[in-house]
Amino acid sequence: MTSIPTETVLETRHYTDDLFSFRTTRPQSFRFRSGEFAMLGLMGDNGKPLLRAYSIASPNWAHELEFFSIKVPDGPLTSRLQHIAPGDEILLKPRPTGTLVLDALLPGRVLWLVSTGTGIAPFTSVARDPETYERFDRVVLTQTCRTTAELQYGIDVVDGIRKDEVLSEVVGDRLTHIASVTREDAGPGQLTGRVTELIETGELFQVAGVPAWSPEADRVMICGSSAMINDTKALCERAGLEEGSNASPGGYVVEKAFVG
Ligand code: A2P
Repeated sequence: MTSIPTETVLETRHYTDDLFSFRTTRPQSFRFRSGEFAMLGLMGDNGKPLLRAYSIASPNWAHELEFFSIKVPDGPLTSRLQHIAPGDEILLKPRPTGTLVLDALLPGRVLWLVSTGTGIAPFTSVARDPETYERFDRVVLTQTCRTTAELQYGIDVVDGIRKDEVLSEVVGDRLTHIASVTREDAGPGQLTGRVTELIETGELFQVAGVPAWSPEADRVMICGSSAMINDTKALCERAGLEEGSNASPGGYVVEKAFVG
């Protein structure tokens, strides 16, 4: 049996009782395309590895890896993973994969990164990759959560882009971050309602300052729960977009947010 490589935890950040992010070392040999996921975990008490799919939240140029996770109180992995601290080791399988990648989309003008909850993780990778801005004129990152506190990770990442000397130069004013909440009052600059509602009423397009989805101009990546994916997918299809994959690039791509 080949053993699974380990990486060292460098930092953890807890956002709510249910959400945290962590950074780890990255081996030089660990290559991925922004938006992909890898199998990550801990050694189980029975001596067997306990692994789950985790989207890599950092872009492919970064020296370290970043992940954004839910904490499930009785979840076999996350009930333990939430207690990791700098210096601890995690298991990380090489050879990430996934469909939320630029290669799975046809060329277009506006890239929409539509997420709920931890579904934002692959998109904080894509939104920090200069190649994204070579391929698209505009990028709209959306995240919908139940509460404003759950939006903080995405807010911090976008703040980081704006403060980064190199990235802010590349991105300029071409990235729009739209955050919405569904179960409490929205914070300043945030919207109220599910992204599917905001698409149907047209509020999302109005706020982004661009026309509604068209097969010519728009490309969409979707990541959230199964129900969210199905509803958002239906709106893409209604706009005339077709689902893409690595083998056959299209107008939109989907992936279920993992763990939880
Ligand atoms: P809501 O509060 O109206 O259910 P969850 O934690 O259940 O995965 O939900 C995360 C966010 O995704 C919540 O804001 C939730 O809104 C929203 N959501 C849940 N189901 C859908 C769906 N089918 N389409 C769009 N958004 C959804």
